[in-house]
Amino acid sequence: MTNFPLGVAVAVDGNANLLSNQQRQTIVSGNFSQISAENQMKMSYYNESTFANPLADQMISWAKTNNLSVHGHALVWHPDYQQPSWAKNPGSDFKTKFINHVRGVATKHKGQVVSWDVVNEALYDPADAGGQSAPPQAEYYRHSVFHNQYNGPSYIVEAFKTARQADPTAELYYNDFNTEENGNKTTGLVNLITYLKQQQAPIDGVGFQMHVLPDWASMASIEASWQKIINLDPRLKIKLTELDVRVNNKYSNPPKVISSCNNCPELQQQKQRYKDIIAAYYRIVPADRRGGITIWGIADPDSWFASDPDWPLLWNASLQPKPAFDGVKEALQAGQ
Ligand code: G3I
Repeated sequence: MTNFPLGVAVAVDGNANLLSNQQRQTIVSGNFSQISAENQMKMSYYNESTFANPLADQMISWAKTNNLSVHGHALVWHPDYQQPSWAKNPGSDFKTKFINHVRGVATKHKGQVVSWDVVNEALYDPADAGGQSAPPQAEYYRHSVFHNQYNGPSYIVEAFKTARQADPTAELYYNDFNTEENGNKTTGLVNLITYLKQQQAPIDGVGFQMHVLPDWASMASIEASWQKIINLDPRLKIKLTELDVRVNNKYSNPPKVISSCNNCPELQQQKQRYKDIIAAYYRIVPADRRGGITIWGIADPDSWFASDPDWPLLWNASLQPKPAFDGVKEALQAGQ
């Protein structure tokens, strides 16, 4: 359907388990060319010494059987609840264990994944700061355990170099959220990518997660943010790695929140928002620099926003396509 990967995040546990759900399998294999594990390839899901991860193996083999590629998510990510024990309780061997993880996981999946989010969310975010106060604009880094143990961002360089060595053919991405707002975090992103290039980190692209609200970020901000990365380097790719579009905006003043949505009119606005984003992707990102677009989940009840409540995805609770599905389809057809 598209000449770039069109992906979807899948679960391999719980109610939305792809491996045991025929309807979801049909949706994924019939509409997409790539999958990301929503959770299963995060750090803590791997055995710390053998890197065994049977569910990831099953997911990858399902993808292969169905002719889908796999985008690896993620070699390095900071949140406590999915950290291996060596990162929860860092000791003097921290750097050895860190490199060992990146090398071990990238080697295990060599030839199985076409791309990796090598480092996820290394930038400071005021909405997810864990008590950290705003750093100076020029060094907009999150003080994660990795940053603290390495005393700065050199762990990111180390992760990219190690991943490239372990799997020379996978495309390597830096991935983050709220970087489409064209504000401080976007400047932080530009500075980070500039630093990575100076350090000769083998980076192939930048992932914009794109968990967007109905009216935020503006299309002008989104386009300007992508453009900044495009301008930075003639070959960096842009990938929309975790696209979802909420119906509600609890942050607006006054909040714009509905509590149920059965064919609610807001779904038309959501459709248009998906269309606008994909149309902008075609317009702003040159064809040879499109790393692809991935939707962050299959059906609304699978979404990490489901309990808000919200309905951010392309299929509804009955696994029927929503107006947003038509919007994506129309935008992709128009872009070809
Ligand atoms: O697997 C356990 C299960 O055994 C347990 O009974 C249950 C009880 O809480 O938890 C299950 O784990 C949950 C896991 O999802 C799998 O369903 C975790 O609690 C829950 O925190 C986890 O949430 C995921 C979150 O990342 C944290 O890893 C979301 O599904 C996932 O959508 C979200 O994805 C992230 C991206 O990786 C990075 N960008 C932001 C995005 C949204 O936060």
